[in-house]
Amino acid sequence: MLINCPKCGKKYKIDEKTLPPTVKTAQCKECGERFQINIQPKPTEGTVDPPKQEKPQRNTRRIAVSLSKGGVGKTTTSVNLSAGLALAGFKVLLIDTDTQGQSSFYLGVKPEGGLAELVEGELPPEKAMVKARDNLWLLAGGKQLAGVKRIIDRKDFGGELTLAETISPIEHNFDYVVVDTSPGWDPITVSVLFYVTELLIPISLEVMSVQGFGEFLKSIAAIQKYRKEVNIKYILPTFQDRRVKKSSVILDKFKDLYGDIVCKPIRYNSVLTENPAFGQSIFEMAPGSKGAEDYRDLVRKVAGDPNCFK
Ligand SMILES: Nc1ncnc2c1ncn2[C@@H]1O[C@H](COP(=O)(O)OP(=O)(O)OP(=O)(O)O)[C@@H](O)[C@H]1O
Ligand SMILES: [Mg+2]
Repeated sequence: MLINCPKCGKKYKIDEKTLPPTVKTAQCKECGERFQINIQPKPTEGTVDPPKQEKPQRNTRRIAVSLSKGGVGKTTTSVNLSAGLALAGFKVLLIDTDTQGQSSFYLGVKPEGGLAELVEGELPPEKAMVKARDNLWLLAGGKQLAGVKRIIDRKDFGGELTLAETISPIEHNFDYVVVDTSPGWDPITVSVLFYVTELLIPISLEVMSVQGFGEFLKSIAAIQKYRKEVNIKYILPTFQDRRVKKSSVILDKFKDLYGDIVCKPIRYNSVLTENPAFGQSIFEMAPGSKGAEDYRDLVRKVAGDPNCFK
């Protein structure tokens, strides 16, 4: 260790190992100045440095938007919820697990690859993900996911952990991972349910959709036997048409049965039918529309912050 005399600047090389830690001052041989020295005891051999303080881990929320019935607003909700959370300042990864691969179309992006390439190890995460907007990344779905289904099917055990194993190494980069699922029930959906902890279930306010919900609940209960962490966190009524009495009867029934987890409904809004064709979220296409207003409310409910995104 080198020390300098603060008065004349003379440099001294000292071996701190040979000095007892009680020595706190030194005297310069050149000018006679006495000054303070600060000797840090060196770790003796075999001792280990104290563990460095780890960076606080991001508490990534993992939400699947799911219902086995088709056309209830899963993709519309996944895309607009993700876009809204990103606009509110959160880092979001949207994963499309559907072979229809509509999320990229809804967001107007043309990714090189997506979830299938990441699972199969053909692309690294930074190439498989596409940055769709500020704060928003997409792992696209599409036809290639058929290969992932085969991979899961061929595994003797652990196939249900495929998504968890693929996404866990990268999820710490995000505040939210939102997963859009396909209609029906397939090995990829099971894998989604073994990865996420929160379920957001869009229910179109019509009788058929409600029947589909009952069936879906049974499937979820079957998964929960093995994985208690996955919970129905939000029920989102969609396609609300206040002119249709049946719509409000169904909504009241859901509120009675499920209470607070029933979100404020997403009203029927023609802009929501059109905006996928323009590759824009509802906030980009029509920020003043009913659809944007309703999805903003959903973002606030999910983020747990009534003031966010105002
Ligand atoms: N609130 C709404 N008002 C009007 N149209 C809507 C609304 N929500 C979704 N849509 C439209 O309804 C259609 C089905 O929606 P979406 O694709 O989100 O359903 P989905 O559940 O993902 O379907 P699938 O099960 O086939 O994946 C789309 O054309 C979409 O633009
Ligand atoms: Mg869809």
